Amino acid sequence: MAEILVLNGPNLARLGVREPEIYGHASYDDLVKQCQSWAAVLGHQAQVRQTDSEHELVGWLHEAADQNLPVILNAAAFTHYSYSIRDAIAQIKSPVIEVHISNPAAREDFRHQSVIAAVCVGAISGFGLHSYYLAIQAIDILLNNKK
Ligand code: DQA
Repeated sequence: MAEILVLNGPNLARLGVREPEIYGHASYDDLVKQCQSWAAVLGHQAQVRQTDSEHELVGWLHEAADQNLPVILNAAAFTHYSYSIRDAIAQIKSPVIEVHISNPAAREDFRHQSVIAAVCVGAISGFGLHSYYLAIQAIDILLNNKK
């Protein structure tokens, strides 16, 4: 059994009301419940958090580094420009997986760059909330050395 941190960056608490044609109609609460049950099926526990603050997100990444916790990270807009998030991820020895609900590569040019991709194990994008489902599966594979 692993504790998995599922960390969400700015504007993700507004799921369901925010651009539903891009991010869908499910709410942030739905995302929390789904992640918890997807993790539980595999015998893991998901701690799902959201913040609009870069400072708070960096602190949570330090917590993952200090406690060796695997991380699923939707850094939202920080993905595209935050070197402090990138440097915090680089300190984590356990797996960190980048996730996105939408497919940033199919959107505006500024979303094509991820400054965090190189310090994550991999990225899962474009599957709606199921991007998190796939990331939980990936963490399970990595922790159980099924890779
Ligand atoms: C996002 C994609 C980002 O480009 C955007 O800034 C977000 C959400 C996604 O989950 O699709 O806020 O990370």
